[in-house]
Amino acid sequence: MARAQMIQQTERVMSSAYMQWAKTHLQARFNLASSGLEPYPLAKLRVEIDNLELTGPSFYGYEPLQKALAKKCGVLPDCVVAATGTSMANHLAMAATLKPGDEVLIEQPTYELLVSTAQYLGAEVKRFTRSFEDGFRLDPNEVARLVGKETLKQLGETAREVGARVLVDEVYLDALFDDAPSTAFHLGEEFITTNSLTKVYGLSGLRCGWILAEPALAKKLWYLNDLFGVIPAHAAERLSCIALEHLDEIAAHARHLLETNRRLLNAFFNARDDLDWMPLEFGTVAFPRLKNGSVDALCALLLEKYETSIVPGKFFDMPQHFRIGIGGETAMLAEALARLGKALFDISARPYPRSARPGNSFSLRWPAKRERRGQKRPQRERSK
Ligand SMILES: Cc1ncc(COP(=O)(O)O)c(C=O)c1O
Repeated sequence: MARAQMIQQTERVMSSAYMQWAKTHLQARFNLASSGLEPYPLAKLRVEIDNLELTGPSFYGYEPLQKALAKKCGVLPDCVVAATGTSMANHLAMAATLKPGDEVLIEQPTYELLVSTAQYLGAEVKRFTRSFEDGFRLDPNEVARLVGKETLKQLGETAREVGARVLVDEVYLDALFDDAPSTAFHLGEEFITTNSLTKVYGLSGLRCGWILAEPALAKKLWYLNDLFGVIPAHAAERLSCIALEHLDEIAAHARHLLETNRRLLNAFFNARDDLDWMPLEFGTVAFPRLKNGSVDALCALLLEKYETSIVPGKFFDMPQHFRIGIGGETAMLAEALARLGKALFDISARPYPRSARPGNSFSLRWPAKRERRGQKRPQRERSK
């Protein structure tokens, strides 16, 4: 076997290309790249200093937070394992259930950290596709666009037969608000679910995440967590309790923002014939496909010329797609979409001058206005 191939097979994954990109590219002035809601301000939580403390009785969970999370999820507190965001929840869940060499099936497209974490743990990752043409359905025969209860149940039965577990990352579940089904944890003992207050509620800074698992596994998760973080920041636990007390109010704000922004995005999509898209009905992100041209070039142009960020589909193994997040403030979103429309016009009007390789994105020359004179403008974006 060639040495390079051997190294490739034995070298452990020790980083996430997507996370490195996200931490260095996400914060453009016009941000369509974030998957979560705009930050919910501390001032609106109406926190009183007397409600906070720096150190407290947090060992295998902080009891008030354990109870609040259990109540929110409709489970017993001994099924809840607190974690630093859904990211750490996913890591813990995989680390507790996987041995090196275990086979893991992960949907595609997916959040890149799920794949790199499984690889870091030495699992053999296999992917199954949820295709764009089928509306990303898990089962093509399923009529519903969402992963329905029945589909998940069937998955659970298959998993039981082969002694597998099913990890369901539910970080966007609450974006269904009143229509959200209850957590998949209730479907059977083989289900482990992860979630957090980070995305849908704009509370990323709290890092309030959790895992739901049957009590024996939950205990194993707590003990494994001792090797990672021992105890969390207690002030964050106290703030998480306050946030959970006011979750209805925070959810109402999130719902209003997402509904308004979704209309705006769908109006933008409606006016475009250079993208394949489906109307966004739920959630915080859309994943259209660029019909012609390079998504890397589009991303580079958008960032350089229009100060706007989107996430290239290559991070989801679908390089002709890009991700648009709609959780930002509405006026910012409107401007960002207008800028995206201009960049789409630019790349369709004239092929991008150089192939946009990673690392090349800040040195691209864009043809001057005068060079583009005389080109027909595309259909104007309809406003909502
Ligand atoms: C599917 C999925 N899971 C987990 C996360 C990370 O969530 P958290 O910020 O709670 O760690 C993300 C972030 O984009 C995500 O898309």
